[in-house]
Amino acid sequence: MKVGVIGAGTMGSGIAQTFAQCPDVEKVYLCDIKEEFAERGKGKIKKALDKRVARGKMTQEEVDQILGKITTGLNTICIDPDLIVEASIEDMESKKNVFRELQYQIVRNPKCIYATNSSSLSITEIGAGLPSPCIGMHFFNPAPAMKLVEVIAGINTYQKTVDRIKKISEMLGKTPVQVDEAPGFVVNRILIPMINEAIFVYSEGIAKIRDIDIAMKLGCNHPMGPLELGDYIGLDIVLAILETIYHDTGDSKYRPAPLLRKMVRGNKLGVKSGVGFYDYADGQKVPVD
Ligand code: 3HC
Repeated sequence: MKVGVIGAGTMGSGIAQTFAQCPDVEKVYLCDIKEEFAERGKGKIKKALDKRVARGKMTQEEVDQILGKITTGLNTICIDPDLIVEASIEDMESKKNVFRELQYQIVRNPKCIYATNSSSLSITEIGAGLPSPCIGMHFFNPAPAMKLVEVIAGINTYQKTVDRIKKISEMLGKTPVQVDEAPGFVVNRILIPMINEAIFVYSEGIAKIRDIDIAMKLGCNHPMGPLELGDYIGLDIVLAILETIYHDTGDSKYRPAPLLRKMVRGNKLGVKSGVGFYDYADGQKVPVD
């Protein structure tokens, strides 16, 4: 099958890598609004694969084969894919625009599935007006390593599309779970308020950053503490998801912690901006308190 991945950021490049590693996928178009962004995404994939070679988990030949399947460029290179996974910025209007533009290529392949990796937005709204309704195919960061795919049905999504995306997820070695559209779906509805709560706990002076993270790692067996995970996801993304859940439910329990807003305004976004709850200068990871 041929797959178009729209958006070559952290999630888009991880998703493209996941597809390219699958023997049943012959071609992956990794697209972005600028060619250089798409190339940078492929560069990230190369770096991740090189690490696997260095660890003896993959051969150079396998890496070359995987990279050879990935073509980068603008959305217009994405000709007649069987599946499009949109992983662009978490903004309703821009997601709708991506699909509006792509329709012109897609109409030649009426069986093409429109999927979005949106982390919390309405699948029904993103897909409104498309020749066939959209579906949520939500991967988790880092996409090549995380085993879950949330398969989200909007109100108009066909059951046959849900079944097909579940099959494709299994083909990728993932475990799919079927979810009805709702703000934050399942994982982010539970995970993101937990991270927000950890930020409240920190702002109230109850414990230091490292101690909050150690508490949740050792007390709950989480692989990462909530504050380091917030940094890893990106605090801007955490805030955007919370805003959606808060806005759509109107429930004050989802109000973002004022410190989270302040950090995002100050570009303290976590790993991607070099500082969040931890400082990542010189490859270190030092709590800022
Ligand atoms: N890209 C590709 N693969 C990666 C990777 C990356 N950036 N980071 C790690 N991996 C792979 C490694 O290659 C390795 O695979 P292997 O076992 O086949 O060699 C495996 O993951 C384990 O990696 P490491 O041994 O280097 O490191 P750790 O054992 O410390 O695991 C981790 C790293 C997988 C990131 C782990 O800390 C973890 O699971 N953290 C929690 C991540 C999480 O909760 N993600 C969900 C975030 S929420 C989300 O994404 C939803 C969104 O909508 C916001």
